Amino acid sequence: MPGLGLRALIDVLEQKQRVRRISRMVDRTWEPGCLVKWAFQALPEADRFGMLFENVKDSKFRLATGIIGSSREAYATALGIDASEINEKWVDALLHPIEPVVVAGGPAQEVVARGAQARLSAWPIPVWTPGKDAGAYITAPVITRSAETGTQNMGVYRTQVRDDHSVVVNLALAGQGTRNVRTYTDKGRKAPIAWVIGADPAVLLSATAKLPYGVNELTAAGGLTGAPIELVPAQTVDLLVPASAELVIEGEISPGEIDQEGPFGEFAGYMGGVAPRPVARITAITHRRDAIYYGFGSQMPPSESTMMQSLTNAGVVLKQLRYDIGEPTVVDTHIDLHFGGAMGHIIVAMEPRDPAHSKRVGCLVANMTALKRVTVVDPDIDIRDPEHVDWAINARLDPGNDIVVVGAAQFAHMDPSVRLIGNRPGPASKLVLDATQKLDAGPFSLPSKDYMSRALDSWKDAGLPAFELPRCARLRLDRA
Ligand SMILES: Cc1cc2nc3c(=O)[nH]c(=O)nc-3n(C[C@H](O)[C@H](O)[C@H](O)COP(=O)(O)O)c2cc1C
Repeated sequence: MPGLGLRALIDVLEQKQRVRRISRMVDRTWEPGCLVKWAFQALPEADRFGMLFENVKDSKFRLATGIIGSSREAYATALGIDASEINEKWVDALLHPIEPVVVAGGPAQEVVARGAQARLSAWPIPVWTPGKDAGAYITAPVITRSAETGTQNMGVYRTQVRDDHSVVVNLALAGQGTRNVRTYTDKGRKAPIAWVIGADPAVLLSATAKLPYGVNELTAAGGLTGAPIELVPAQTVDLLVPASAELVIEGEISPGEIDQEGPFGEFAGYMGGVAPRPVARITAITHRRDAIYYGFGSQMPPSESTMMQSLTNAGVVLKQLRYDIGEPTVVDTHIDLHFGGAMGHIIVAMEPRDPAHSKRVGCLVANMTALKRVTVVDPDIDIRDPEHVDWAINARLDPGNDIVVVGAAQFAHMDPSVRLIGNRPGPASKLVLDATQKLDAGPFSLPSKDYMSRALDSWKDAGLPAFELPRCARLRLDRA
């Protein structure tokens, strides 16, 4: 079943009480940023919802946040699947990517404002950490292009509003966006750039996927929806942008034009620093007449950002391990939803072929990703249940033999535990925990499945309260 468009998704999630409309007037300089923080800091995932602000002071446009990333259920609904199918959906999308198609026009260009008419202040761009952030910033997929190959790339890069017609883009120095921009600016040319706001959820989610350089994330978005993503030529820059987006901001980065970016609240839970980053001049803003501005919340985890990045990249890593590296023994992967998205803790469930296999796979994952902690477990552990994973660590890991610290780790300048030396990240490391069963520890200390199943009838007869069998208990009983 294909996924839902953004507006249909908002309607469906609203019916499930997973989106709330806020009709009272809000001040974008502090209220939405704080309200979405309450949704993530105070509510458990099962009760969390996204927000549609219908009345934002000084803007005629609506503001949405937390729509796709409030919960696994919302993320899965956006893709038309059940939450248990997210990983395999990603594996399938990456195995069967679909090239986008160019169409004549689309709602994203219903209104075209060029040059001086393209004013950022018309849009309800929030201040996400009021009282601490340097100002408002855009959180949306950013499209860049390689001048050498013509291939586009899409990633979410925080973008600080500098004034009505320019921004500072937090393009990571070693990132794919920077690599594309430099194919122009290193040759003295202006680099095209576009921010895609409120596109099809598959487009928004694919922007959070860490795919190899040269792979256009829009092909993965096509794989997710099972149909090509429709693109239109941008009005003022040489890029193709999603035709159904709510709005698209077009701009250019000139060689050597930089400004200070930040400070801003960051995903790891601390305020970040100030660093020089490229300036982009806005050349046009195209949009639906009644556009909804969609900003992803980030900063103190958990957040929409950590949810989206974790859920997306667990599937990406699973596909890479199984199909690119050739480790069919890997059964499942899960990235902790509470910290750092693609830089947090991954749990890998696998069937080791030999005693060192699980450690090898753990070290491989540590080296090929930005993830800081890798825990490898057997398939009889529910990797989405932190208590079950903790049991495996306590019962199956011998610290002297089963822990590997991997040094010389990837660029980790956003890791607050790594000291900055002269504004550059210090040496970083990773932790690999091999919590698979290495020794035959004998049978589980649970009554056999037969006894336990019969006791369920006794439970019922005794009038005790009904419960849903947790996956951890089911997996244990299967071995009891
Ligand atoms: C809300 C949000 C904000 C993000 N901000 C940044 C950022 O400022 N800079 C950055 O390099 N990555 C940022 N990321 C992570 C990237 O979007 C992500 O790593 C993506 O895969 C990068 O794409 P790329 O590998 O094609 O460059 C952010 C992600 C989200 C969801």
